[in-house]
Amino acid sequence: MPNSQSQPAVTRGADIRKTFLDFYAQRGHTILPSASLVPEDPTVLLTIAGMLQFKPIFLGQRKAEVDRATTSQKCIRTNDIENVGRTARHHTFFEMLGNFSFGDYFKEQAIAWAWELSTEVFQLPKERLVVSVFREDDEAFAIWRDQIGIPPHRILRMDEEDNFWTSGPTGPCGPCSEIYYDFHPELGDEDIDLEDDTRFIEFYNLVFMQYNRDANEKLTPLENQNIDTGLGLERMAQILQKKPNNYETDLIFPIIQTAADIPGLLYEQCDEPTKTSLKVIGDHVRAVVHMIADGITASNVGRGYILRRLIRRVVRHGRLIGIEGAFINLVAAKAIALAETVYANVRERETVIMAELAREEARFLETLERGEKLLVDILEQQAEQISGAEAFVLYDTYGFPLELTQEIAEENGLTVDVDGFEVEMEKQRQRSKEAHETIDLTAQDSLNQLTEKLRSTSFLGYTDSTSASRVEGILVSGQSETTAGPGTEVQILMDQTPFYAESGGQIGDRGYLLGETFVVRVEDVQKESDFFLHVGRVERGDVTVGDSVTAQIDRAHRRRTMANHTATHLLQAALKALVDDSISQAGSLVSFDRLRFDFNCSRSLTSDEIQQVEEQVNTWISEAHQAKVEVMPIDEAKDRGAIAMFGEKYGAEVRVIDFPGVSMELCGGTHVNNTAEIGVFKIISETGVAAGIRRIEAVAGPAILDYLNVRDAVVRELSERFKVKPEEVPERVSSLQGDLRNAQKDLEGLKSELAVLKSDQLVSEAEAVGNVKVLVAAMEAVAPDALKTAAERLLQKLGEGAVVLGSVPEAGKVSLVAAFSPQVIDKKLQAGKFIGAIAKLCGGGGGGRPNLAQAGGRDAAKLPEALQTAKQQLMDTLGDS
Ligand code: ALA
Repeated sequence: MPNSQSQPAVTRGADIRKTFLDFYAQRGHTILPSASLVPEDPTVLLTIAGMLQFKPIFLGQRKAEVDRATTSQKCIRTNDIENVGRTARHHTFFEMLGNFSFGDYFKEQAIAWAWELSTEVFQLPKERLVVSVFREDDEAFAIWRDQIGIPPHRILRMDEEDNFWTSGPTGPCGPCSEIYYDFHPELGDEDIDLEDDTRFIEFYNLVFMQYNRDANEKLTPLENQNIDTGLGLERMAQILQKKPNNYETDLIFPIIQTAADIPGLLYEQCDEPTKTSLKVIGDHVRAVVHMIADGITASNVGRGYILRRLIRRVVRHGRLIGIEGAFINLVAAKAIALAETVYANVRERETVIMAELAREEARFLETLERGEKLLVDILEQQAEQISGAEAFVLYDTYGFPLELTQEIAEENGLTVDVDGFEVEMEKQRQRSKEAHETIDLTAQDSLNQLTEKLRSTSFLGYTDSTSASRVEGILVSGQSETTAGPGTEVQILMDQTPFYAESGGQIGDRGYLLGETFVVRVEDVQKESDFFLHVGRVERGDVTVGDSVTAQIDRAHRRRTMANHTATHLLQAALKALVDDSISQAGSLVSFDRLRFDFNCSRSLTSDEIQQVEEQVNTWISEAHQAKVEVMPIDEAKDRGAIAMFGEKYGAEVRVIDFPGVSMELCGGTHVNNTAEIGVFKIISETGVAAGIRRIEAVAGPAILDYLNVRDAVVRELSERFKVKPEEVPERVSSLQGDLRNAQKDLEGLKSELAVLKSDQLVSEAEAVGNVKVLVAAMEAVAPDALKTAAERLLQKLGEGAVVLGSVPEAGKVSLVAAFSPQVIDKKLQAGKFIGAIAKLCGGGGGGRPNLAQAGGRDAAKLPEALQTAKQQLMDTLGDS
């Protein structure tokens, strides 16, 4: 029998982890490290269970180095993402404690140890435990009943869906047996329903791994009988820490509190929706920190898509609880601190994690802004109602909570079709549910599976702006679909395309895919290895795999982008020619409306240099240089002097963009044929972005007009408001600034005069001590000079005496003054020393002459006490004689 008196129960998450591993280590298991979240197994995207790293061993493809192992494995599952924060126990990221037997012990031993660990080490009361077995597994049933002694009515037989565990549609599998904890034993043993998660929580799953399942669902016995188990660390922590849910355990709650602190919330006092948002943040932040630590970066496909989605949910829930602006780094710092003792790589990769999170967050905040613009468009078009599909797009793509859309709609006298929205939500849920119940690997894997079957996309966009293409694949929320209907956000793969995919700093093309009966609007194009993903939305009809389309880019958008791209090359050439030949590119962004060029340079450019560079680029533009585009071996390109970007990987054959005599660069982007097409180039700013890296932002080509229009509108508005000609605006502003300064001065003067006059009333508060008078008082916000005048004036009225005044002229500032008459000074009281000591009590100092001195401090809360002390000292000293 365990002695619960002498053996303190394990409760802290870290202790549960250690206790588990030690327990199995003492029983011949080798403690192995957690595998990465990015599994070696190519059929899955993320590590979803402790057994994944051992899959080849179970399948007999790799020899086990040990017969028994135990791990604490970091895992991510996203199949139930909508339930995170809503139920007591759903997570994306969690830790699974496991013990494994590779052809060594089997059912009997696994059950006996699991029971011993649960009841004797973790000291869970036996009467609170219920177990389940696979319906046909009489052997396991008998072990629980006869060897462990569980009453038969507390051993539930469950069907395949619940108690036959597989790591995916195919692979090693077997019947399993689970141990549940009962939070409400008082409800009795009648009608036990293990699905009722307000009463029961499954915390330990023992899988008797003995089959391999093939694609036709046929089971073949494995060479060995193995054991694979999983004990949910967060769940055990919930039970042992007696918390209402997993989130409030010491594994996650500190993160939640950090998030709650940002908008000044107290978790305990929050309503349910706010608590849910905090839980989502707590859960997802752990997930994203570990994902990035394991090398995943955000993108629109595969793991990168999962990461992006999780980060976006964090940001959205942050907004829901009242956080404005960026905050994810603050919360991630807590998650890193919690994880670092177990997973050293999170601290090692902290800088990368923080940078990736901040970048994604900023990007999404911009998306949210674009969503707001879309909403304005919708509002302008709609007569009475925002449709369910539109509200859903705003929710799903732009992160607008339904309530927000409703609020804005209401302000505009519209309603939202909430039922329609729910229908769309349900469709989305179905799409995620359709995947395998246990793990959503099919969904996560679909791009990989799709691209395995396809040839890479041929890019025609250097020469063509339209193409006759065939739809080869459709992804919806990362999952392969054969068809997609109106309003659906899609990623479309085609055999060939004129669309440029974002790369080398140049943004992806926009445009349309026009089918016979449907239209897809393409908003962005991303590249995954050699596959182009056309990201957009079905505007009309249904698009289906196999359909023929006319793929058509937005030519104006492309022309603008090309102008900015070629201008970037000219800018680099001008910087090299006029500023420093060793300048090279450190990054760039080429968009349809502007360009950004980062380069190494240890100093800022002078305004003369900036002007010269701008003029040089404009000269080359007007000289109408013709482009020569050639593909050649990399060595030849370098011999010819083409500029390559330092650290960039290039293939054996490279594309060279040459404006002979002006600029020659390796580049895969799209460019104008002749520099004259750019028209004009304008530098907007030159700033530093990091040590030794400068950034130039500029605009070229047709985008200049937009830039000028915006500037022009500002100037026009100013000139209208000030009622002067545009060129007179600066002078007018200067003169207004002067007027404002004078007015402020006058106001200060008046305020002081008023304060001084008011101070006259204080005379009556003076107290007589011997033949002098003492007046110590606080005045409302009075500037230091006025306070001094007031003190002098009061002393004059009192005749012989001491006046000490204090005030808080502005938040965080204390102002003090002392004025002493000769008789007071005779008593060895000096205004300067005296007030200096008093100011110290308010966190400051100061001093001056014996008869008049001023001092200041920072701690306004201490002022009353300091004045009290001043008065006491004056009374004592002056009263003594
Ligand atoms: N592999 C089993 C699970 O994940 C233990 O539940």
